[in-house]
Amino acid sequence: MSIMFSVLSLFPEQVLSALDHSITGRAIAHEHIEMALVQIRDFAVNDYGQVDDAPYGGGRGMVMMCDPVYNAWRSVIGDDDTDVRTIYLSPAGKVFDQAMALSLSEEQHIVLICGHYEGVDTRVIEEIQAEEVSIGDFILTGGELAAAVIIDAVTRLIPGVLPDQEAWQLESFSDGLLEWPQYTRPRAWHSRTVPGVLLSGHQANIDRERSVLQLLETIRKKPALLKSRKIDLELWELLAERLADEAFEES
Ligand SMILES: C[S@@+](CC[C@H](N)C(=O)[O-])C[C@H]1O[C@@H](n2cnc3c(N)ncnc32)[C@H](O)[C@@H]1O
Repeated sequence: MSIMFSVLSLFPEQVLSALDHSITGRAIAHEHIEMALVQIRDFAVNDYGQVDDAPYGGGRGMVMMCDPVYNAWRSVIGDDDTDVRTIYLSPAGKVFDQAMALSLSEEQHIVLICGHYEGVDTRVIEEIQAEEVSIGDFILTGGELAAAVIIDAVTRLIPGVLPDQEAWQLESFSDGLLEWPQYTRPRAWHSRTVPGVLLSGHQANIDRERSVLQLLETIRKKPALLKSRKIDLELWELLAERLADEAFEES
């Protein structure tokens, strides 16, 4: 299985340079993903390469014009947009999360439109019915890094990309919780130790400990995640035991 990402941008190389390393770099090399970089300026409205103009109503900055964006989009989808998911990276969009990454990983062709300057004339976004997606409530210079973030998160979910096929299912958010805290050598560092059970070699106990640590980590750092996640009674009991032990040690 492979996914084609068409990136429409004034700086498309920025997207590739962010991805051409490590796991995503290998995914490109092994054709798990295909990257089509489309330079919007190739669809400029005149020989001067114009792709933007001043905003109607006055004010700061420049706005990317409809025609260059629309024609760049048409150049990748042809006459049929039915099998394509088109996304406009925008701070006003739905905030990207793991559930959206999972849904995108089932697509064959994803078109990512990167704005620059003050963004894109809103009429073209409406016309092509692009989904607006944000990577968080802050303003980036352009949509390129946001596109790279989305491509990275989706690529990890494609079968064959991670060396261990199921690895992503154990990562934070996939089962609605954060991952447990991780430890590696040395056993003691700056007077901080590793939970003893992780060194025991007893896999069932390690798994149980990780489940408790996972729940604790989520309660402490992202409790909102628990709203949509059912937790086994047995795990709540283990957690209650753990919290009671901690309270006892502190007293
Ligand atoms: C400087 S921003 C434009 C900001 C816009 N004038 C506003 O105030 O909402 C230029 C482009 O960067 C991209 N961008 C900026 N922040 C983003 C975010 N948080 N998520 C996704 N894309 C973003 C969008 O494509 C946007 O069109």
